[in-house]
Amino acid sequence: MKLPPLTIGPYTAPIPLLQGGMSIRVSTSSLSAPVAECGGIGIIGGSALPVDELKADILKAKSMTKGIIAVNIMFAMKNFYNLVKGSIDAGVDMIVTGAGFSRDIFKIGKESNTPIVSIVSSPAFARLAEKLGAAAIIVEAKEAGGHLGTDISLRDLFPEIRKVVKKVPLIAAGGITNGYEMAELMDKYGADGVQIATRFVLTKECAVSDEFKQALLNAKKEDVVLTSSPVGMPGRAINTPFVQKLAKGEVDKTKECLYKCLKKCDHHYCISERLMKAHDGNYEDGLFFSGENVYKMKDILSVQEVFDQFVSQAESVYKES
Ligand SMILES: Cc1cc2nc3c(=O)[nH]c(=O)nc-3n(C[C@H](O)[C@H](O)[C@H](O)COP(=O)(O)O)c2cc1C
Repeated sequence: MKLPPLTIGPYTAPIPLLQGGMSIRVSTSSLSAPVAECGGIGIIGGSALPVDELKADILKAKSMTKGIIAVNIMFAMKNFYNLVKGSIDAGVDMIVTGAGFSRDIFKIGKESNTPIVSIVSSPAFARLAEKLGAAAIIVEAKEAGGHLGTDISLRDLFPEIRKVVKKVPLIAAGGITNGYEMAELMDKYGADGVQIATRFVLTKECAVSDEFKQALLNAKKEDVVLTSSPVGMPGRAINTPFVQKLAKGEVDKTKECLYKCLKKCDHHYCISERLMKAHDGNYEDGLFFSGENVYKMKDILSVQEVFDQFVSQAESVYKES
């Protein structure tokens, strides 16, 4: 049966699929615009970008598609409000935010008519986000890549949050690798849509280096680990030589703060620098965020092929509950 569309505020995505925002320069217009063009919601990773660069990338994405373009900005960023305001000025359709909780963002959203989508990992924050005016809520579970707010799996966490979110769309994220799982989460768990990210790193359009994609393609189940982050939350990443050194306490603290990206940083390493090294393909020294189920993905597809695969698999089993 055909999948239902996903409506968030005034926007309706024909396919209920969000491409998770990925910093730094992992999800840029080159990935998010084709996602929006395929009928999903394309999310540019805005955290730690200079405001002008983010604005230019949003404008570029908007020029490439009439579909829905959002931006993801982590509340932990020092220039959070400037990035939010810059994105709104550039005409972004919606703002997705997590890694900390801003109450003021909902006021900004209301004033500018920009839907705010909250990423949460607990029923308490889901309830608060809905009360404050979130236009949709993303439940991000422990299988996700990047910073994690929980150690609970998606199929255990989602039902707890489903019970408390009554009015706005609820989206499932973390470890989803195919359309059968998408249909399962929508049919059996009552999700209104899904967010996937790691699958989209492994696309032709994703702007990271080939080495980044190879690091993910080569990863076996045991190669994806939890590591520490100066953000103050654990992060899920590939167990590269840098991550191994970090675990052994062999990484020196940063002496000088070059990027001044985080509100609070313990400087046990520079996350911006390490994520950029990963982007550029430095396997030895980079931090390669990845979802837990990356080992199930064996190919690099086009964004259109990912959509075709997800939609045909999901619609072959989906039965509207
Ligand atoms: C390389 C990478 C970078 C990410 N960066 C961010 C980010 O900047 N902000 C954020 O909220 N989530 C970030 N995430 C999490 C994703 O947006 C998404 O919710 C999650 O990875 C979904 O799980 P999946 O990758 O198993 O599909 C990142 C994930 C990856 C793999």
